[in-house]
Amino acid sequence: MDIQRDVELRPHNSLALAARAAYFVRVENVVEARAALDFARAHRLAVAVLGGGSNVVLAGDLPGLTLQIGIRGRALIAERGDAIHLEVGAGEDWHQTVEYCLARGWYGLENLALIPGTVGAAPIQNIGAYGVELESRFVALEAIAIATGATRRFAHADCGFGYRDSLFKGAGRDAWLITSVTLALSRRPAPVLTYPALRAALAAVPAAEITPEHIAAAVVALRRARLPDPARVPNAGSFFKNPVVSAERARALAIRFPDLVTFPAADGGVKLAAAWLIERAGWKGVARAGVGVHDQQALVLVNRGGGAAALLALAREIRAAVVDQFGVELEPEPRVLGADWQAHDDRAAAL
Ligand code: EPU
Repeated sequence: MDIQRDVELRPHNSLALAARAAYFVRVENVVEARAALDFARAHRLAVAVLGGGSNVVLAGDLPGLTLQIGIRGRALIAERGDAIHLEVGAGEDWHQTVEYCLARGWYGLENLALIPGTVGAAPIQNIGAYGVELESRFVALEAIAIATGATRRFAHADCGFGYRDSLFKGAGRDAWLITSVTLALSRRPAPVLTYPALRAALAAVPAAEITPEHIAAAVVALRRARLPDPARVPNAGSFFKNPVVSAERARALAIRFPDLVTFPAADGGVKLAAAWLIERAGWKGVARAGVGVHDQQALVLVNRGGGAAALLALAREIRAAVVDQFGVELEPEPRVLGADWQAHDDRAAAL
């Protein structure tokens, strides 16, 4: 294990933001992770955990120890009938894991193909796409308490999953380092075709003949068409969550905007398409100061060299415009590290 000083994090985040870690270490297993946490404790360093860096906004330098999780490995740990439990190291690439499962005929992850990032990051924001959320394929995870080094197993009920949300973004934020995730898969295909754009993409195939392989291929094609490849155009996927409003509020908005895009949400709420709100407010494709709004998907902000301050300024302006026009507040989806998005607000307000 090699703890380095003053490390440039630009290669370690998909927005390619320049920020420096005072201390940086890549850990390959649980023993190294514990040793790194011991080091942080001994030197009173704050700990930031990085997976693939595809869902963070590095808004400033990180003063403590940044741990990059490189814990690999996949193991089939239980099998009963068609059901399979697969334990995966937190540092494994998510999409490679989807492909690994598909190649073995272990189904359930196909709608989640091509999501950037690592397996360990997946439960933190309960990744979801095209009608499936991670939590529906989740059994348990193993984590180390950052404060003490103790390990703990979290079952599904312990994780507080919600739409793009979990305990690890809320009350358990910065408290746990996830080392492995156990997924529930099945040898029996059970295609999920509830997402309209996915069903439309497979319209040529009769419903009864649609396989998980069809779904994975369609999802990959949809994502490639709409979402910029972070290796070419730095981005963090959706920059905002889709806002969930009451059914009453959604009805009132739909009267004013008959083509409002909505999806049913938990507890009778209604999820609005933030991309639609942003596009309607006139921000799709806007480019300035080295940052911009992607021209194929208004929910994705891109960094063309403008950096974190320009990116967050753009995000705040978009949010204000959407509040103005629709009375709906957008919340950032990626984690903002190194400075607080609110602190930026205060600074902007003071100028
Ligand atoms: N739309 C627009 N303008 C746009 C893009 C979309 O009006 O520029 C409208 C379309 O009518 C479309 C609707 O918004 O029907 C939804 O668009 P899309 O299917 O692209 O999905 P999304 O709601 O914008 C969410 C996730 C994505 C995920 C897709 C597919 C969030 C925050 N985002 O986006 O996840 O891939 O659904 O399930 O929930 C991510 O989290 O980083 C991410 C990319």
